[in-house]
Amino acid sequence: MTTTPVYELLLHQLEGLLSIETNPVANMANTAAVLFNGLENLNWAGFYILQTDTLVLGPFQGKPACVRIALGRGVCGTAAQTGQTQLVKNVHEFKGHIACDSASKSEIVIPIFKDGKVWGVLDIDSPVLARFDETDREFLEKAVRIFETKSAL
Ligand code: SME
Repeated sequence: MTTTPVYELLLHQLEGLLSIETNPVANMANTAAVLFNGLENLNWAGFYILQTDTLVLGPFQGKPACVRIALGRGVCGTAAQTGQTQLVKNVHEFKGHIACDSASKSEIVIPIFKDGKVWGVLDIDSPVLARFDETDREFLEKAVRIFETKSAL
């Protein structure tokens, strides 16, 4: 739903912000802020970092969220376990969805890799049904690739 020119501008902004820093916490914080403020109809944007078999909450924008998610649980745990982006048009139809904020209706979760292994995930939630499409997936995966390249994971 977000247009390609808007995404191109956001990716450009992200590339610039992340080029001056390699600290992953600082880069997660700024990435969450750029996406949360730059995209319409979001209620949460942030990171979970994989520690052994648990995803632990990282920097985010939005309401307080679940702190730990087991690998394989919910949309985030599924993305981390499979290493594949999860694009969920209606979270209530996703078996095992973890409702941190009852306002969330759709969600996209992109895995983050280090040396070919899942390092964490970028999770974005929306209060609008089917908020995310293939254009969102394409550009959010590009945003994650920028984060992976610029950060010392
Ligand atoms: N809904 C997610 C949990 C994380 S929050 O939405 C921030 C899930 O099912 O994994």
